[in-house]
Amino acid sequence: MIQPTAASAEPAPSLRPLPIDVVSIQSQVVYGRVGNNVAVPALQAQGLTVAAVPTVVLSNTPHYPTIHGGPVPAAWFEGYLRDLSARGVLPPLRAILTGYLGGPEQAQALGSWIGQAMEVQPALRVVVDPVLGDHDHGEYVSPGMADAYRRHLLSLADGLTPNGFELAHLTGMAVNRVESVVAAARTLLTGRTQWVAVTSAAPDTWAHDEMQVVLVTRTQAEVIRHPRIDATSKGTGDLFCATLTGYWLNGASVPQATAQACRQVVRALRHTQQGQCAELLFPPMATRQDDGQPQAHERDVRQFTYQIGNGDLSMQPAASHLMRAYARQPVSFVRGSGARLWDDQGVEYLDAIAGVAVTSLGHAHPEISAAIAQQAGTLLHTSNVFRIDWQERLGERLCALTGMQRAFFCNSGAEANETALKLARLHGHRKQVANPKIVVMENGFHGRTIATLSATGNLAKQGGFEPLLPGFLHLSYDDIEAVRQAAEQSPDIVAVLIEPVQGEGGIRVARADYLRELRALCDQHGWLLMLDEIQTGMGRTGAWFGYQHAAITPDVMTVAKALGNGFPIGACLARGAAADLFSPGQHGSTFGGNPLACRVGCTVLDLMTRDELPRRAAVLGARLLDSLQKALGGHPNVNAIRGQGLMVGIELDRNCTELVGRALAEQRLLITVTRGSVIRLLPPLICDEMQIDDIVVRVARLLASNVAKNAIVEAAAQTIVGR
Ligand SMILES: Cc1ncc(COP(=O)(O)O)c(C=O)c1O
Repeated sequence: MIQPTAASAEPAPSLRPLPIDVVSIQSQVVYGRVGNNVAVPALQAQGLTVAAVPTVVLSNTPHYPTIHGGPVPAAWFEGYLRDLSARGVLPPLRAILTGYLGGPEQAQALGSWIGQAMEVQPALRVVVDPVLGDHDHGEYVSPGMADAYRRHLLSLADGLTPNGFELAHLTGMAVNRVESVVAAARTLLTGRTQWVAVTSAAPDTWAHDEMQVVLVTRTQAEVIRHPRIDATSKGTGDLFCATLTGYWLNGASVPQATAQACRQVVRALRHTQQGQCAELLFPPMATRQDDGQPQAHERDVRQFTYQIGNGDLSMQPAASHLMRAYARQPVSFVRGSGARLWDDQGVEYLDAIAGVAVTSLGHAHPEISAAIAQQAGTLLHTSNVFRIDWQERLGERLCALTGMQRAFFCNSGAEANETALKLARLHGHRKQVANPKIVVMENGFHGRTIATLSATGNLAKQGGFEPLLPGFLHLSYDDIEAVRQAAEQSPDIVAVLIEPVQGEGGIRVARADYLRELRALCDQHGWLLMLDEIQTGMGRTGAWFGYQHAAITPDVMTVAKALGNGFPIGACLARGAAADLFSPGQHGSTFGGNPLACRVGCTVLDLMTRDELPRRAAVLGARLLDSLQKALGGHPNVNAIRGQGLMVGIELDRNCTELVGRALAEQRLLITVTRGSVIRLLPPLICDEMQIDDIVVRVARLLASNVAKNAIVEAAAQTIVGR
């Protein structure tokens, strides 16, 4: 041990200490680019001054056949830190960065020194990279390090940068999916710790040739996807952590700094790959003018934000200017054909939801595309002030199919139902009912406008939008006694609005008898029977419309979704007295029924008729149900498999909303989950038999892996919900 010389003396008090921005405590190698050999230049490149404390001194990384050196002795290590304090480094110090440590005793010494440093400099930022190992090499530190981090360092850090392997080791939780990474990382947000940036995170959800960093804070999680570059060089974690720290100290927010660190790592790896070098090569520094903005070649680093709250993780690009109304999946489709879709990475998917019962003719149907192009080149819109020939034609076609007499055209399902609700109230007032009531069903779904939301029997969807509209009576579905009792008790009832199969409500099929009895009750009391065929209509259930299975005719019915195969259109159809309730000026829509929408509607009807798609839906639906029963009938988590035509639900014994993301990532399959536990399948009606069988195979595989992962998923979900 070197002793101070006899002549040692403090420098003159008028001389200030060398200003140090960052103390970087990492491994020191003679040859190679890891630890301080990476962190120091990365920090210096950002204009920061660095004091480098070695934890181990090695000739090179242990990946080479020769290696000399080892951990610095405890007395030396503690001395380095003490002497930094003695040199007056602490008061102006801005950050401490730690990387690979030589053993648990170093962690302990470091923890107590950081505690002292914080007393001198409370604004000090501490970033701890809890180095333990990685997925490729397993654990490569001395035993007891995970525990030492937990005991001495984690809660002192403002930010942590574990990789996925380290996060799993530190928390004892599985971290294969974003949700579980978030759940695990949140357990580390204790003490001072405000953020955890997890590299190589959630491998189950990596897209083709991509990896991701998940940055978890108390309120949100940023998912930063970046290309996976095949380079074997070490030190990328050290570069990531130092670059992040540098950007953060220089004023970037943690999410911005994290994204910049990802970009820097990608640049370095590309540069290393191009240089065919065994060790990490530093690319030339990014020029000033890119100033936080990705350069063209770096735009493939993409950032998404999950909001954490109500137990849900909803995800959209961090820079998005869209309202957070949707919990979006991190997939963006750019092309479709029939039942197939391709994302922006070129990955192919099988579509088993058809845009939620919309693209029944499949994606990019050439005849639909041609009709749109032709009409767009002729006439798009005039307004309902004038006669619209295509609207007349579509009205006539729909009435011929349904037995209705008049149509009102609008742009969506909710608007079609609004129209029906207005008709019901007019009908009531004609009958001198001052406060007309409409019977609707529990778990029914009719749209998101205030009136249709009031009609919707789902408290979760209604919550927060009170006061809802009065005038609705919610009864249990498929229960004729409930309607009979209501008829006796409420003379104000004027109409019933019901879905023949509840779609959002978990694929519940009303019995044909029930619908017939409902028809009879409506006739008996002079109520309008109004059928919401928005999801069930246009062939979906194996008949043109769901009520046709019960051989009844409604007074009012609504259609939308598949009527435009993706082009927005809705319609409310009526017969009898209901068809003549509106007089001019009582209802209207600017866009509703314009030439383009109605021409598309006519083309959809032409194609569905020509290709006999309702019948096809019946045949394929029977095949789908049958194969699902065979494949999943005995599955321990499957409670029921039910449906009508190509509208099929698989009810599980537990919440399974996470399956939507897993189906995309693991099976390249689009599904939805309704009511939390029902997998809903709504494949396009143009599917071929092989595609139907393929859906079954992919769902079965998904559920097979679900059994193994259930415990993990539940633990993660509980951790998220419980916070
Ligand atoms: C049965 C039913 N009614 C109404 C709607 C609302 O349709 P839109 O989203 O077009 O307003 C939907 C949509 O899912 C539906 O399934």
